Amino acid sequence: RTNRTFTMIKPDAVKNGYTGEILDKIIKAGYKVIALKYTKLTKQEAEGFYAVHSDKPFFEELTNFMSSGPIYAAILEKEDAIKSFRAFIGATNPVDAAEGSIRKLYATSLGENAIHGSDSDENALIEGSYFFSKLEEVE
Ligand code: CMP
Repeated sequence: RTNRTFTMIKPDAVKNGYTGEILDKIIKAGYKVIALKYTKLTKQEAEGFYAVHSDKPFFEELTNFMSSGPIYAAILEKEDAIKSFRAFIGATNPVDAAEGSIRKLYATSLGENAIHGSDSDENALIEGSYFFSKLEEVE
């Protein structure tokens, strides 16, 4: 069934000039853009977004990185969006990411891995509403 996912093009990919290519691939892969924004997280906002990881050893590194430069945040819609988008972006660690996936092509490292994709419908809603109001969603 058609559902939605939330994504961010992370600071490494933006800095490295991959935004255009990544958005092009997302659109060509059939994801409908429901909302899109260019923004930069403060350290505090990154901590809020990644609150579920606050007890992880990489939390400090993760939130420093995610607040280190501008990102693109988006809500996307497609048939089976959560699962298909996670396959499309590839494994968390680019070393393990499938050939042709976004992380294989553009990620720097496990921590600086170019792109985010929600892991469930519930988290897609929570994450999307962290960045967008209902009025910013185009049906
Ligand atoms: P993402 O799935 O977007 O959200 C959690 C992020 O934590 C994940 O991407 C990785 O970039 C990051 N992450 C996971 N494991 C590690 C790790 N061992 N060291 C640094 N960052 C990590």
